[in-house]
Amino acid sequence: MPLALRKAAEEERDVTESDRRRGPSRAEVRGILCHDPGSTAMNTDTPLSPEELDRDRRLAWFRAARFGMFIHWGLYSQLGRHEWVMNRERIPLSDYEPFADTWKPRRGCIRDWARLAKAAGMRYMVMTTKHHEGFCLFDSHLTDYCATKHGPGRDLVAEYVEAARAEGLRVGFYYSMMDWHHPDGALCKTDEAARRRFVDYIHGQVRELCTNYGKLDIMWYDVSWPLDVEGWESARMNAMVRSLQPDIIINNRSQLPEDFGTPEQHITPEKSGRMWEACMTFNESWGYTPIDKKWKSAWDVIAMLRQCAAGGGNLLLNIGPTPEGNVPPPCGAVLEDVGGWLRKYGETIYDATDPVAQEWMITGAFTRKGDCLYFHCNRWPGKELAIGGLVCKITGARIVNGPELLFEQVRDRLVLRGMTEFPPDSRCTPIELRFTGEPRQALGAGHVLIGEDPWRKTEK
Ligand code: GLC
Repeated sequence: MPLALRKAAEEERDVTESDRRRGPSRAEVRGILCHDPGSTAMNTDTPLSPEELDRDRRLAWFRAARFGMFIHWGLYSQLGRHEWVMNRERIPLSDYEPFADTWKPRRGCIRDWARLAKAAGMRYMVMTTKHHEGFCLFDSHLTDYCATKHGPGRDLVAEYVEAARAEGLRVGFYYSMMDWHHPDGALCKTDEAARRRFVDYIHGQVRELCTNYGKLDIMWYDVSWPLDVEGWESARMNAMVRSLQPDIIINNRSQLPEDFGTPEQHITPEKSGRMWEACMTFNESWGYTPIDKKWKSAWDVIAMLRQCAAGGGNLLLNIGPTPEGNVPPPCGAVLEDVGGWLRKYGETIYDATDPVAQEWMITGAFTRKGDCLYFHCNRWPGKELAIGGLVCKITGARIVNGPELLFEQVRDRLVLRGMTEFPPDSRCTPIELRFTGEPRQALGAGHVLIGEDPWRKTEK
């Protein structure tokens, strides 16, 4: 046994009694709960605090879920020019409020979205219960500006919860703390009495949401303008949320870090193993905006999923339904397509979340599970595929759910042969590569790595 390995094995045996009593460490718990990419970057020796253990417990389903549907729906959907239309076009409140009565969404539409989410391989949904415009899709006793008392004439949040549950999906509530409709929504910044009233309103609505709809899985706050964390009394608000919903996970937008980060319109892992979820639009708007034609394709969505998986995070992909509640084309077709792909290749996305050092390749990129890499080839080069810089000895290669491939590995150049001329799956074809140990990729900018020859060890 090589010296380094022998030392590691000896150290592993050298467990003192106090270590045994200390409870599980971060690495142990995360290793049990998930293949956590952050576990290598964090201090794995210190035991988890009771709060961290509880967080890991509550996050377990979320870490495995990978893919969720975000839904932006509100009065703005009728205007079709982005959910910020009221602010961006400075529409006077008196001109905007009437949209509360003209909004008549079709019954049953939310069931369609939930079915679509399920078919797309998504495992949870997050819907706007109130966006910045201030109109509540739920029945609120604290305002008349809500769906039950205007055009829709029914509780859209109740319908949403029922629809998601019927498909076995987890339920998240988006809730905007900023409010352009409430008279104290801006005044609260400069007037203490207004702040008191407004914070009571916001906390009161959060209480309604956490009380009236059964078990919730995610509280997804958004924009906390114009107060700071003390002004919002966010710690008190979230303690209330947890007392009403002990299993809930909370995002980081009430100005407290809470359970997970929310990179928006970019896919960037959080540090130190903290959970994260990238939220992305389908075109470039969240609310229904048919004049925005920059739709993502199945190819794009699958590439985003791969990137999230490789960084141990989730993808929350938005749809902005029409005011009637229809999924705008081409979102439905693209999501069905992605779902078909996930049914074939899901093992390379849902479960393959181990961290992997990798560098860009024009032909694709990796996810990893243990000693196995999945190369997501989305620009098919033809009968041969070469991958540079892999450190570790390969033992086998095959197309996922397909034939074995021939391979030749000479130091830092791996060539796969026996492939078809055209891609087995034009959206992305994952190729499974099996190694004798944990693989990584190191290419660098030069044609050699300076000061390091990682392949020497693998040659013997
Ligand atoms: C931003 C926008 C908002 C959108 C949200 C989604 O905060 O203000 O319109 O709902 O991002 O993450």
